[in-house]
Amino acid sequence: MGHALLGVLGLFWLNTLLYGHAEGPNKAVVTLQPNWTEVYRGERITLRCEIKDGGDTEWEYEWRTTSSEKPSDQNEHNITSVTGSHSGDYRCKGRKTHTQHSSTDWSDPIKLTVSDRPQPVLTVSSSWLSAGASVTLNCRVKDPSAGWRFYWYKRVPRLSGNFYYSYEQLPGSSSGTEQDSYIVHGQTHTAEYQCRAGRGDPEYQSYTSYSMYVWTSDIHSSASLTESPDRAQHFTSDSVSLSCEGNSTEWTVIRSSPEERYLFDCSTWGTMNGSTCNINTDWPSDAVYWCESGSGESTNAVNITVQDGDMILLSPARPVTEGHSVSLSCISRSQTFDSIVFFYHNEKVIQNDSRWELNISAVSKSDEGFYKCQHSGRESAQSWMSVQGE
Ligand SMILES: *[C@@H]1O[C@H](CO)[C@@H](O)[C@H](O)[C@H]1NC(C)=O
Ligand SMILES: *[C@@H]1O[C@H](CO)[C@@H](O)[C@H](O)[C@H]1NC(C)=O
Ligand SMILES: *[C@@H]1O[C@H](CO)[C@@H](O)[C@H](O)[C@H]1NC(C)=O
Ligand SMILES: *[C@@H]1O[C@H](CO)[C@@H](O)[C@H](O)[C@H]1NC(C)=O
Ligand SMILES: *[C@@H]1O[C@H](CO)[C@@H](O)[C@H](O)[C@H]1NC(C)=O
Ligand SMILES: *[C@@H]1O[C@H](CO)[C@@H](O)[C@H](O)[C@H]1NC(C)=O
Ligand SMILES: *[C@@H]1O[C@H](CO)[C@@H](O)[C@H](O)[C@H]1NC(C)=O
Repeated sequence: MGHALLGVLGLFWLNTLLYGHAEGPNKAVVTLQPNWTEVYRGERITLRCEIKDGGDTEWEYEWRTTSSEKPSDQNEHNITSVTGSHSGDYRCKGRKTHTQHSSTDWSDPIKLTVSDRPQPVLTVSSSWLSAGASVTLNCRVKDPSAGWRFYWYKRVPRLSGNFYYSYEQLPGSSSGTEQDSYIVHGQTHTAEYQCRAGRGDPEYQSYTSYSMYVWTSDIHSSASLTESPDRAQHFTSDSVSLSCEGNSTEWTVIRSSPEERYLFDCSTWGTMNGSTCNINTDWPSDAVYWCESGSGESTNAVNITVQDGDMILLSPARPVTEGHSVSLSCISRSQTFDSIVFFYHNEKVIQNDSRWELNISAVSKSDEGFYKCQHSGRESAQSWMSVQGE
């Protein structure tokens, strides 16, 4: 019995001596370089097995992984282009060269998660601005602290017979910004922005974000868009034209709508005649329209809704000048009988009688906002009326 105990203790001692198990000074650690554990398909990373306090000893390495790609028996494993099959836990251990049995424990696992190439989400501080105001762009990635730099782009129209364009980097961002936001000062007209993120060396690039637009309804002297008739809502089959005016011979009208991911010019949803676009109103639509010239100018933008419903509100599409009078009216396609017509301003009833017209004799800034009308339980869409200082 005494011998047996001594034997167990002896074995334990021998074990400790040979394998360094119990309180062995050498510990294996897996490191990942760069050290973010969420990596993206196509990124370059290095997995390394480090022996703490390994000294001058020569080591051999062994890896264990739950991924389908087993690293070779080296301390360093370069993956030049990560794929989904690299996802998993990685452990390693070291064994002293030439000594058959002296090895470290398996390291703690490091978890590698491989995701699809990310697409940042671009937001703008405001979609509608007054001319000359500043706008803040924000480019969001899932983990903004993980070494990303941000690149900012603006679309530059180039018209030459056809509608096509390219993107230019915003000033001072050619090598990316560390900040995930960018301020554009003195935004003068309608513009389209995109962003992208990149990290690592060589740089790994995210997809480009979807576009965000910044519009102005302010009419500036050099170039403008006018709508005829000047109103925000139309019935399908109404005749609607948009004219571009300014110091350019080559104009096109562009529209952006929530249903259409890409921009289209007049040739796809209307007919261009000189610098005027006649909208095809066969189908309902809800979009923002503006003009762009061959030399890169753009104009004020207007919201235009084409309705196949029964009622529309006639309200000006362009801003109304403070102090001027304005008349909003409600129109029904079908026959109507005298009854109450409700006019709403920002969801509050402001006129409730038999009149189909709402007159404001001297518009002030407080009249700005959304308007709609309602009659016999049917309602028009709502439209924004903007008020511009004198
Ligand atoms: C990654 O490495 C950087 C610098 O090399 C360090 O500042 C940061 O704390 C590390 N992050 C983690 C999660 O280890
Ligand atoms: C991994 O890449 C680094 C730097 O690119 C290089 O110095 C090293 O030799 C590579 N290691 C292996 C095992 O290929
Ligand atoms: C266009 O409509 C949006 C909401 O749909 C509104 O916020 C914006 O002010 C409108 N712009 C103009 C110029 O009417
Ligand atoms: C209009 O264009 C002409 C020729 O390109 C130029 O000389 C003139 O200064 C421009 N006028 C304005 C108001 O921009
Ligand atoms: C283009 O507009 C002009 C005048 O504005 C008009 O006379 C002409 O008929 C129009 N052309 C077409 C094809 O509609
Ligand atoms: C409309 O006016 C009538 C009579 O003046 C009033 O009884 C009713 O509450 C009003 N309705 C709304 C929604 O304001
Ligand atoms: C509104 O004003 C127009 C003139 O601008 C006038 O013809 C009309 O009678 C007015 N309507 C109402 C309901 O006051």
